[in-house]
Order: sequence, then C-alpha cells, then structure tokens
Amino acid sequence: MNGIVRIDEQSVIKAYARWAPVYDFSFGPVADAGRKRAIDIINQREGSLLEVGVGTGVALPRYAPHLTVTGIDLSPDMLRIARQRVREKRLSNIAGIYEMDASDLRFDDAAFDTVVAMYVMTVVPDPVKVLKELERVCAPGGEVVIVNHFAQDHGLRGWVESFMAPAARALGWHPDFRAETITDIATLDLVDTVKLKPFGLFTMLRFRKAGETTVPDTPEQAAPAT
Ligand SMILES: C[S@@+](CC[C@H](N)C(=O)[O-])C[C@H]1O[C@@H](n2cnc3c(N)ncnc32)[C@H](O)[C@@H]1O
Repeated sequence: MNGIVRIDEQSVIKAYARWAPVYDFSFGPVADAGRKRAIDIINQREGSLLEVGVGTGVALPRYAPHLTVTGIDLSPDMLRIARQRVREKRLSNIAGIYEMDASDLRFDDAAFDTVVAMYVMTVVPDPVKVLKELERVCAPGGEVVIVNHFAQDHGLRGWVESFMAPAARALGWHPDFRAETITDIATLDLVDTVKLKPFGLFTMLRFRKAGETTVPDTPEQAAPAT
C-alpha cells in the first residue's frame, strides 16, 4: 500500500452503513470461496475463535459448534445483521458480537486460540496496527488466518490496481494493498499461502504463533478426573 490515501474510521462506518442492506447479496457470495477455505481450516481447530471484521456474520453459522466464537466489527449497521443472524439461527456457540476497532481490541493478550480476519485488512485504516493486535490476542500455539485481496505489481491487474489506488477512500478499500505490508512485519510464522477463487484474486495467509497451545488434546485434559 502506498499510504497516500488513508481511509478513516468514519468513512468505514459510512461506507458499511450503505453496504449493510445489500452485502449478503453482493460481495458476500463473490468472496465465498475464500471464506470456505478458511472456515474448513478453522473448524479443525479447538477452543476459542475471534472473527475480526465479522460484518453481517455470514461465516457465523458455518463455524463448527465446538468452537466458542466472538465477533467484532466497527460498523453498527453490519453488526445489527450479524446479531439478527445469531438470534434467527439460534447459534449457541457465539460468545459475543461487539462493536470494536480492530486496531484497538479490548481483549487480553493471548485470549483466543484462533483469530481470523476475512476481507478486512484492505478496508481498515491502519492494517499494520491491526496485524499487531491480531498477534497480541492470539494465544501461543494459536493461529491467525487472513483472507484478502492483495495487489499484484505486474500485468494488467497490477496496472488497474495502481490506477484505482487514489480512489481508495471513495471505494472504501485499498486496491494497491500488498501482502508484504503484513508479511514483512509479522512476528508470527507464515505456514501457508493459498491463492483462492475467483481467478486467484484472493489469498489466504495462515500464520502460527510460537509456543505451546494450552488447548486440551483430550476431554480428560479439559476436565481431569478428581
Ligand atoms: C468486506 S467486509 C468483510 C466482512 C466479513 N469478514 C466477510 O467475510 O464478509 C469488511 C468489514 O470490516 C469492517 N471493518 C473495517 N474497519 C474496521 C476496523 N478498524 N475494526 C473493525 N472492523 C472493521 C467493516 O465494517 C466490514 O464489516
């Protein structure tokens, strides 16, 4: 990202107030291949999950019921739909849906076994600060999964992305955001990079935080016999 055009919090809130009523019928389906890939990986994990930029909660019903899920987002309009979904689908594994800034999470260090942000890093005002927060709240041995569009520096697509960059505020996202913006500063280990449909437009980055997980491997470890 060249950092020339900065999207601020108020423009995010305004943009997603407009997106909220149509999101599930527009960007929602376009981005579903990436969501599915991330959810399949996450559902094999245990413990607690934080979804950052949960939006309208399209992923929420698809998380395995053994996961305890918390969602946060900056947009009250998107969150209203997410909460309605939780109620209508009676999702009993949702611990909370909170209005919160991803660059200033009100959670303790190491609070979650898995942290996911899907299609969020290009729309947040400060992606570097957000990555630092995702790392902070991820427990040792935990994973941070990021699904996003990342810019290409060559070919027609690279040219279009650079051309669109000055319109970032109007678009509500940064077309010229490069994966290196986060991979270069992450203190986590990048364990997998997967190009996703459609046309490799989106990418999943999977990071692991060093250390031993405290998530029990067996039910006996979770509740030792007395
Ligand atoms: C493209 S939507 C993605 C929603 C959802 N993750 C999905 O897969 O459909 C981006 C979301 O990020 C949220 N967002 C943008 N900046 C944020 C911030 N600083 N903190 C929390 N959420 C933010 C927006 O409100 C919006 O709901």
